[in-house]
Amino acid sequence: DMDVFTYDPGFTSTASCESTITFIDGDKGELLYRGYPIDQLAEKSHFLEVCYLLLFGELPNAAQLEDFENRVTRHTMLHEQMVYFFRGFRRDAHPMAVMCGVVGAMSAFYHDSTDITDPWQREVAQIRLIAKMPTIAAWAYKYSIGQPFIYPRNDLDYASNFLHMCFATPCEEYVVDPILARAMDRIMTLHADHEQNASTSTVRLAGSSHANPFACIAAGVASLWGPAHGGANQACLEMLREIGSPDRVDEYVKKAEDKNDSFRLMGFGHRVYKNYDPRAKVMQETAKEVLDLLGVKDNPILQTAQALEKRALEDEYFISKKLYPNVDFYSGIILEAMGFPTAMFTPIFALSRTVGWISQWKEMIEDPVQKIGRPRQLYTGAPMRDYIDIEKR
Ligand code: SDX
Repeated sequence: DMDVFTYDPGFTSTASCESTITFIDGDKGELLYRGYPIDQLAEKSHFLEVCYLLLFGELPNAAQLEDFENRVTRHTMLHEQMVYFFRGFRRDAHPMAVMCGVVGAMSAFYHDSTDITDPWQREVAQIRLIAKMPTIAAWAYKYSIGQPFIYPRNDLDYASNFLHMCFATPCEEYVVDPILARAMDRIMTLHADHEQNASTSTVRLAGSSHANPFACIAAGVASLWGPAHGGANQACLEMLREIGSPDRVDEYVKKAEDKNDSFRLMGFGHRVYKNYDPRAKVMQETAKEVLDLLGVKDNPILQTAQALEKRALEDEYFISKKLYPNVDFYSGIILEAMGFPTAMFTPIFALSRTVGWISQWKEMIEDPVQKIGRPRQLYTGAPMRDYIDIEKR
């Protein structure tokens, strides 16, 4: 409700809303979900418990958690007709394009949970979105590699179910390694919410017009896709692969410093963090655990990443600009080691961020004084002038 509009190209100083969900201190590198530090949640909690915390504001007791997990588990299947949406895409379609399309199509299949004025329907929509995003992401992956869809199983936990849907085939069971399941669950927790980032602000703005929740989340998926935002994990791994080895790191750091060169080090820098992204620290530890488990010792990508991080953290330019590794710097290394193609990195970010998007949407929709979002502008165009007939132009 800013009645005095202060123009800021980064829109960082104008608060767009009040929220009780996530707190970031960019200078200290702190991130809290409902007051709990992200590193404690990553270590001691698990993704569905974090979902409950983000949605309802408090950690659940055992009975509440069991009920919530059962409700999510029983909504992981997609309406069978939705298979035809996947088949309408070319096999080489980017999975984020598929997710945009299929999530938006949920508005048509789950219209019994699109009335945002009905609290029961809102709650069902929230559960359906959290439950079905892993299935949508996994099926987008299966479709892209020409393998049959694998259905969710009710005997697997959330992260294991996702890995199973991605890597099992009808011919061969995929036994989920508990360390990989834990790593995937941790990646989901680290990406769950992040205050008013571009995609969350997109969801809030779309939701403020009372569009149905599925359409709002589809808008969030579209915004996250960009390489400056959620697409950075894919762009970061492609950059590390292009650098290729530690001895070429210097060349790329110099490119990133060159103001005449639009190249930016993917996975570095952040609009809010002017210190180490706390998620990157947890991600780095997880990367080492996964690579050790998989016996990937001298992974050139990880060696290049570690050399790049060391070089950048000593670099005058990066220090002066307060550029540190962000959440996307290590996530791609873990996902690649697990066997995911880079095109699947952002869909995994999207399925993880869905609970953040829907929690922020819920907070906005339940605000009794909520109004439609209507950002203003500073007009810098032509002053008023009369029309000129074409003969005189
Ligand atoms: C995410 O908002 C969120 O919370 C996002 C996110 C979330 O969880 O939702 O945290 C997820 O999107 C993380 C960021 C992923 N993006 C990347 O890793 C792409 C590479 N990073 C940059 O594109 C950039 O750092 C941004 C987009 C993240 C931030 O851009 P800004 O706001 O322009 O960065 P800034 O204001 O902090 O930049 C300060 C200076 C600028 O130079 P000057 O204009 O002051 O001369 O540092 C420069 C920038 O040009 N700079 C970089 C750089 N990032 C910023 N220079 C080289 N390499 C980089 N990566």
